[in-house]
Amino acid sequence: MPPESRDGLEFILDESFDGLYLRHAKRTLREIEAVRAARGSSGPVGVIMVKALEQKAGYVYYVAVTREHRGKGVATLLLTDALEKFKAGRIEDVYASVEEGNAPSTGLFLAHGFARTSFAELAKRFGTLRAVNMYRVMMVVPGEFLLHKSTS
Ligand SMILES: CC(C)(COP(=O)(O)OP(=O)(O)OC[C@H]1O[C@@H](n2cnc3c(N)ncnc32)[C@H](O)[C@@H]1OP(=O)(O)O)[C@@H](O)C(=O)NCCC(=O)NCCS
Repeated sequence: MPPESRDGLEFILDESFDGLYLRHAKRTLREIEAVRAARGSSGPVGVIMVKALEQKAGYVYYVAVTREHRGKGVATLLLTDALEKFKAGRIEDVYASVEEGNAPSTGLFLAHGFARTSFAELAKRFGTLRAVNMYRVMMVVPGEFLLHKSTS
């Protein structure tokens, strides 16, 4: 979705996030390089926001589905599509951060082969300085944990 067509997706974020997360999700929706939406017969039903990081790594910022359409495989479609695009773009490592206790989100990523990782693992793979920068760009905050999946 090009930036000028993204306003119609904001309601999905309103249904999915609160407070700081909602504000950040809306800002990300306006600014991020890649936004893909899933459409149903009555309009958009889900959205995913992704970004290529340095070092052949990619990040899933947000995935959200309208309340009415949850549990029907919409996020699965969006995430599968995003992972295919990352792979086609030679992205080797995909990351996502999830809030502790967010069972639907954790379940979604685990079901797609993501596994919990840590800053220490990231630093081992990319070096401490790069890992610090990646953490900053990913905006992992206390109360969240990092997940990783290799596309190979
Ligand atoms: C997380 C979210 C995107 C999942 O969307 P969805 O379209 O309902 O997900 P799917 O139907 O594709 O489900 C895929 C897998 O996710 C997991 N999952 C989905 N809902 C779940 C729930 N309520 N509890 C536990 N696991 C769940 C399951 O493993 C499911 O696979 P299964 O159906 O084979 O069991 C949706 O709940 C949502 O928009 N939540 C609010 C926003 C949010 O928290 N986003 C994630 C952080 S960015």
